[in-house]
Amino acid sequence: MVTTPASGLASRQLCQSCHPDHYVERGVCTSCHRGNPASGRRNIAHQQLIAGRYAAFTLGDTQKLRTGERLIDLYACRRCHVIGDRGNRLSANLDRSSARRAPGEMTESILNPVKNMPDFRMEKQQAVLLVNALLAASSRQKAASGGQRQVVHFDRTGTAGEDVFSKKCGSCHRALTSGLGGLGLGDAGPNLSGLLSPSYPETFKDRYRWTERNLENWLKNPRRIRPQSRMQPVQLTELEFRQLTDILTVKQPQKKQQEGQGRALF
Ligand code: HEC
Ligand code: HEC
Ligand code: HEC
Ligand code: HEC
Repeated sequence: MVTTPASGLASRQLCQSCHPDHYVERGVCTSCHRGNPASGRRNIAHQQLIAGRYAAFTLGDTQKLRTGERLIDLYACRRCHVIGDRGNRLSANLDRSSARRAPGEMTESILNPVKNMPDFRMEKQQAVLLVNALLAASSRQKAASGGQRQVVHFDRTGTAGEDVFSKKCGSCHRALTSGLGGLGLGDAGPNLSGLLSPSYPETFKDRYRWTERNLENWLKNPRRIRPQSRMQPVQLTELEFRQLTDILTVKQPQKKQQEGQGRALF
């Protein structure tokens, strides 16, 4: 399935039995569109096809690609996903998903998310730009590393609600966690997946990251940090607080835990 761009003599693929030449100076059809070049049957030839609207990234650093990358940061997808080898392994590794799945299915996953993924209610057009950026990140990753890492899968989603997050935060928040899967039922506050990791947005104060100490201060009195906050103080014992930070800490199985407090480093 992997083909190298044509060098010198353009190598023709069966795609061209149905399609006219197009960007031939930049490579073979499948280097930008995937698909199966050995088949003359459309359904087979088009397997995992990257359609034109998802292929913008193959032309280099375009406006569309940058917009997609900004959306990834804006929605903080890396709270839960690895994208371009960065982010938390709380859910599917999107470098792998992008390499395996058809772009249209990826778009569907964003527009109609599963239970533990927030519904961002975005326009289809935005989701298409996001998938362009996911494909770009995945293809850079493949080029850089060759192999793909394993996805973390948990199947303990939805515990009995006996943990401190479910009891003290879950009425207003949700979080996907390394140890206990998806916790919480509330949407009044933001989804706290990966809160204590560098992939969570720097929303503490003055664009600082959420560290354990910052979280401790926040829980004592959110309004001291954010005068307009709608969240009330939450009383936790020291033990409960330790359990909470343990639950919210992302375990990165095959990578060194990212260190560093305060400002994120990326
Ligand atoms: C048997 C003929 C046939 C073969 C072989 C074939 N295609 Fe197509 N292709 C079509 C037809 C017909 C359409 C338009 C209808 C559709 O989207 O299925 C199309 C559409 C496309 C589109 C546009 C899809 C979109 O929605 O933007 C791309 C890109 C494409 N083909 C790439 C390829 C590539 C790459 C190969 C080889 C790996 C290939 N095709 C092989 C017949 C073929
Ligand atoms: C360098 C990357 C690249 C290569 C190589 C390439 N394409 Fe494309 N293709 C694109 C992009 C990007 C688009 C989206 C439209 C555009 O920007 O031109 C596209 C669009 C298309 C479309 C949809 C056209 C439309 O009007 O929507 C078809 C069909 C297609 N390509 C087929 C092919 C075939 C067949 C080959 C091999 C001969 C090929 N492409 C080679 C990048 C590439
Ligand atoms: C709170 C955690 C969380 C956040 C934030 C999140 N997702 Fe997800 N996402 C999930 C879960 C859980 C799944 C299901 C994964 C599985 O079944 O392995 C998923 C699945 C996906 C899939 C399908 C992957 C596959 O292989 O089936 C895509 C694509 C995706 N997410 C894209 C995004 C994008 C883009 C963003 C940011 C706009 C985002 N997600 C933000 C939790 C999240
Ligand atoms: C009764 C509802 C409620 C409960 C219970 C609650 N929160 Fe909140 N929380 C909110 C709301 C609403 C916000 C929205 C931000 C604001 O108004 O400041 C918020 C915001 C936050 C934020 C800021 C996140 C950001 O990115 O801005 C953190 C961190 C947080 N909560 C942690 C917790 C933790 C941990 C618990 C449990 C110990 C908890 N909350 C319990 C309602 C609640």
